[in-house]
This record gives sequence, structure tokens and C-alpha cells, in this order.
Amino acid sequence: MFEKNLLQGKRILITGGGTGLGKATAQRFMELGAEVYICGRRQEVLAATERELREGALSGKNGTIHAHPCDVRDAAAVEKMIDTIWSAGPLDALMNNAAGNFLARTEDLSLGAFQSVIGIVLMGTLHATLACGRRWLAARHKGVVLNVTTTYTTTGSAYVVPSAVAKSGVQALTRSLAVEWGDRGIRMNAIAPGPIPTEGAFSRLLPRPDFEQEAKKRIPLGRFGTTEEFANLAAFLVSDGSGYINGEVVTMDGGEWLQGAGEFTTLGRELTEKEWEMMKPRPKPNS
Ligand code: HXC
Ligand code: NAP
Repeated sequence: MFEKNLLQGKRILITGGGTGLGKATAQRFMELGAEVYICGRRQEVLAATERELREGALSGKNGTIHAHPCDVRDAAAVEKMIDTIWSAGPLDALMNNAAGNFLARTEDLSLGAFQSVIGIVLMGTLHATLACGRRWLAARHKGVVLNVTTTYTTTGSAYVVPSAVAKSGVQALTRSLAVEWGDRGIRMNAIAPGPIPTEGAFSRLLPRPDFEQEAKKRIPLGRFGTTEEFANLAAFLVSDGSGYINGEVVTMDGGEWLQGAGEFTTLGRELTEKEWEMMKPRPKPNS
């Protein structure tokens, strides 16, 4: 899909890059020549991913990878990680991908539950964005921030309220800073994915296995997205090829949220052939 050297020499941090979409994207960025940094809370998960992707790179693929354990909720820890990375040279791009989420009735949630998810998603994104943004602005260095949100930032969503609140905040941050920092060479964009099977998301958000088939019915394309499709979109959005895209939230959901929002979208499944025929205009009596 891309020139092999699309991201050659680009230094990119992916938060939450040890698993799921972050890991798949790290792999894709490396294939395209990037020097990738990943962070997360679990040292052993990061180390295993670092080892796996490095071995892949040694066997003919491009790029390099470095892992830094870091909890993005902790502003001081993020500063320290960014300082360490910067000591070897500035980053060119940041992908704020780390997230937390679970299904719950909002009235049952403790304040700690809200703080946990909002701390990872909104504050974590803010910490990493400020740490990189301030350095880029001070050095007049170009930079790209790619945030990962969801489609329910547009609509809100029952039963994932801390996540909906936090991801909507991330989207507001994306659009605000696209304007505030755009004139100084920093692009801000986001990807809003629909469901893409990962252990992290599906173990928390699919209460029963049979929900999977039901979920696919809500998607016009009739299937979930793939980690490869996500990683390719991310590669485009951090690359110079998307240099004029700024402040954009790119939805990648097979048309799911539009189907959910539309008034008549389920009729195709619900009406019989006979009922469609009956709705056709009848010939006028005098014609
Ligand atoms: C209610 C819960 C809860 C649950 C935790 N809490 N799970 N409350 N229902 N299922 C509460 C706890 O009681 C605690 O409250 C507070 O939240 C923090 O919980 P901890 O377990 O101590 O936190 P921690 O170990 O830091 O774990 C954070 C987490 C966890 C968010 C709760 O799920 C996690 O680590 N997630 C990371 C990965 C992830 O979620 N991936 C999915 C991303 S998918 P108190 O009051 O005791 O402090 C996604 C988009 C999907 O985001 C969109 C699909 C279309
Ligand atoms: P995932 O595998 O659970 O990824 C989340 C990552 O965030 C994990 O690697 C986790 O690692 C890291 N993380 C969590 N809390 C952290 C913290 N405090 N500090 C640093 N890292 C932290 O789930 P995923 O499906 O790949 O999700 C990736 C992104 O896509 C998220 O932003 C999610 O909201 C978004 N998304 C996913 C879907 C989907 O269907 N998969 C749909 C829409 C949006 P540790 O636990 O080791 O910290």
C-alpha cells in the first residue's frame, strides 16, 4: 500500500503500544522504516512486544523499537520518559493510543472508576501531548499528534460513560490544538475506529460471545475492522503524505455509526418483499 520508506527515519512514540492496535501499528511503522517507541504500564508485556517486533525487524524488515514502562496518568513519569527519548533526539510523531474502558451502569460507578478511565484517556493524552508539544514549539520542530478516539464521541454512549466523556475531550483537544499550534508546524488529527477485535477491547466490551454476531449486523460492511486497516490509516496520518490534514477526525467503522443514527436503516432487514412492493406507486386510475 505504501512506499517501503514512507516513515524512514521518523521517530514515533505510541502510548499503549505493547498490545492490540498500538502493537499492530508499531509493527507497521517499523515496516515503513520508523524508529518506534512504545510505552505502557506492564513491563513484561512491553518487553515481549519489543522482543517480538525486533526479531521481525531483524529478519528483513525495517525500523527499530524501544520500550519504556510508563503510566500516562502520571504527568511526572511522562515528562521523564519524554526527556529520556529526547536525549537521543526529538520525536517526530506521537500517537496517543493508551486507553481504559469497561461496561457498567453509570449509577453504579465509583469516583475512582471515573478517575481511572478519564485519567488514562484524557489526562494521559494531555500529558504526552504537552510534553511533546512544548518541546516541538521551543525548538521550532515540526510534529504530528495522532489521537485514537471512538465513534461514540459524536453520539455519546450509554454504559461506557467515563470513556465517552474522556474520548470526547480528546477530540476537543485535537481540534483546539490543530488551530492553536498549526501555524507552528504541529498537526493534530484523530482516528475514530469502530469495533476492531483486540483482546483488550473485546474482553471488556463483549459481555457474551453471541453479541459478536449482533454487533456485525450493526455494520453496513457486515464485519469488524482489522488491526492492519487501522495501522495503514495511522501510517498515512503520521506521514508527510497527509501534510495538509489538520484537525480531522477520521472515522473508520464500516459505516456503523451512520447506520445506528439513521431513522430508517433497519427497514432493509425488517420489511418483506411484499411490503416493499406495496409501497411502490400504484398506476393512477385514468392513466
Ligand atoms: C465498575 C470498575 C470496573 C468495572 C474497574 N472499576 N473496573 N468499576 N465496573 N468493570 C473501578 C475499580 O473498582 C476502581 O474503583 C477503579 O475503577 C480503578 O480500577 P483498578 O482495577 O484499580 O484500575 P486499573 O488496574 O488501573 O485498571 C484500569 C481499568 C482496566 C481501566 C479499570 O480496565 C484497564 O487496565 N484497562 C486497560 C485496557 C483497556 O481497557 N482496553 C480497552 C480499550 S477499548 P475504586 O473506587 O476502587 O478506585 C476502548 C474503545 C472501545 O477504549 C470502543 C469499541 C467500539
Ligand atoms: P488494548 O490492547 O487494551 O490497548 C490499550 C493499551 O493501553 C494497553 O497496551 C495498555 O497497556 C495501555 N494502557 C492502559 N492504561 C495505561 C496507562 N495508564 N499508561 C500507559 N498505558 C496504558 O486495546 P485496543 O483495542 O488496542 O485499544 C487501542 C486504542 O483503540 C484505545 O485508545 C481504544 O480506546 C481505541 N479503540 C479501540 C477499539 C477496538 O474495537 N479495539 C474501538 C475504538 C477505539 P498496560 O495495561 O500495560 O498499561
